[in-house]
Amino acid sequence: MKFPYSKKVLEHFQNPRNVGKMEDADGKGLEGSPACGDMVAVYLKVNEDTKVIEDVKFESYGCASNIATASIITELAKGKTLEEAKNISWKQATEELGGLPPVKAHCSVLAVEGLRAAIRDYEEKHGLVSAKEPTTE
Ligand code: FES
Ligand code: FES
Repeated sequence: MKFPYSKKVLEHFQNPRNVGKMEDADGKGLEGSPACGDMVAVYLKVNEDTKVIEDVKFESYGCASNIATASIITELAKGKTLEEAKNISWKQATEELGGLPPVKAHCSVLAVEGLRAAIRDYEEKHGLVSAKEPTTE
């Protein structure tokens, strides 16, 4: 059987970026995957004026694909506004990683849902109503 992971997936799995807990996070998301029962937590530091994500961390209780995707979405989200970060999709994250095995798509969806949950948490805490629901693509 051909080894199913790209070099980039392995590299992010072995050396994930932005791992850890953030005690003073402005927004936190914890999401579980119905497909496999795994979980991911995402923490955000947000600039109150500009709504730019200044820092982001994650903890994954999932598999290699989830760790790699969570790692890449923290890189994609940092420096983006909340609205921009909402549009980061699992497809985009998967492409950045050079692809994932199709059976692992839900692991990248889980990572993206964790990020979106953290954004939603920030918006709820700050009385911001989300202008539009992000697409699931
Ligand atoms: Fe559960 Fe990947 S199989 S997150
Ligand atoms: Fe949950 Fe892969 S099945 S970590």
